Amino acid sequence: MNWKAKAHLLALLSRIPAGRQVYHSLQRVAGTNRLQLDRDLHRAFELTDLSMEAGHSLEGTDVFEIGTGWRPLVPFVFALAGAKSVRTIDVNPWLTKTYALETWAAIGDRLEEIAARTGAPDSELEQRYRAVDTSVESLSEFLKQLNITYIYPGDARETGFEAQSVDLIVSSNVLEHIPLDVQTAIHEESLRVLKPGGLSVHRFNPQDHNSTVDSSITHANFLKFSSDEWTWLGGSGLAYHNRLRSREYRQMFENCGFELTVCRERIDQRSLDAIQSGELVVDKQFSHFSPKELAVDYMWVVAEKPVETTTNSHCPGNVLTPQEPVLKDATSVFIGSVLDEG
Ligand SMILES: C[S@@+](CC[C@H](N)C(=O)[O-])C[C@H]1O[C@@H](n2cnc3c(N)ncnc32)[C@H](O)[C@@H]1O
Repeated sequence: MNWKAKAHLLALLSRIPAGRQVYHSLQRVAGTNRLQLDRDLHRAFELTDLSMEAGHSLEGTDVFEIGTGWRPLVPFVFALAGAKSVRTIDVNPWLTKTYALETWAAIGDRLEEIAARTGAPDSELEQRYRAVDTSVESLSEFLKQLNITYIYPGDARETGFEAQSVDLIVSSNVLEHIPLDVQTAIHEESLRVLKPGGLSVHRFNPQDHNSTVDSSITHANFLKFSSDEWTWLGGSGLAYHNRLRSREYRQMFENCGFELTVCRERIDQRSLDAIQSGELVVDKQFSHFSPKELAVDYMWVVAEKPVETTTNSHCPGNVLTPQEPVLKDATSVFIGSVLDEG
């Protein structure tokens, strides 16, 4: 598919009153929001792995997911692994009871794997799964049995949660869709609601999502557009992508007062080659980034709320230094080619 055709369609839908509903219907018809169990379980496991790698257990934790989306795989995995509570928030009403039940039924065959990956005892996890009654009336009643609360409409900038009431904040393929100023406010709110030593764990996709429908362009293709051009093509509405580069994410977390425990950055070789050979010329607003930073197409971050923290932490989100990155120990950069769309 030519990516520009899709981008123009989404840009149009973003600007008409019933655009969101039409978008949802088109997704159903095209099957783009269908359950992809292997892929989605893998993504959920990356979040549980990162949390455990950073020294946090899953059992008995209070978890908060930002950006539920269509399929509640992440809340299900954390709940089955023994989380005390899982709250999941979204500004859009993508999750339905039908999607939740379909996803729940599908993971019935994967309980052993979920137990093995999360360290939960097999029998307990199986018991948790079997205890859930799927014939209940509403989505919220169904989720309540797992101590999951779906918050819609909700905005991760303003959760209304009690201060220091959350152990783990997680998100999958969300941060790239949130503008810098909004994201900065989300990290400030995250710091407020996290317990000292709590973790903010994110996996996200700074690549041009249009490259997943059109193999003729690279993962860094969108960097050639000016802000004005990008505002129409994918910088607003349903297809919004912030185009932030890896250094900006790192700075945002650190400016807010988080300590980066893990920061993994995957570089797309094809994009790197295109940038280094001059085949892809980026817009001047990106010219201060190194070719490797421009070619980062996936990131995994674990940011810890320090145990000792200043009470009035404020994130100067827009103040980002335009120098070469100083990569800390927590940052690892690798060349990857695994295809993973946003
Ligand atoms: C690409 S979807 C990813 C959904 C899901 N995590 C997944 O992996 O399928 C990004 C989600 O983030 C949500 N989102 C964007 N801004 C948000 C905010 N400020 N607070 C809560 N959710 C937000 C969007 O509505 C959308 O459902």
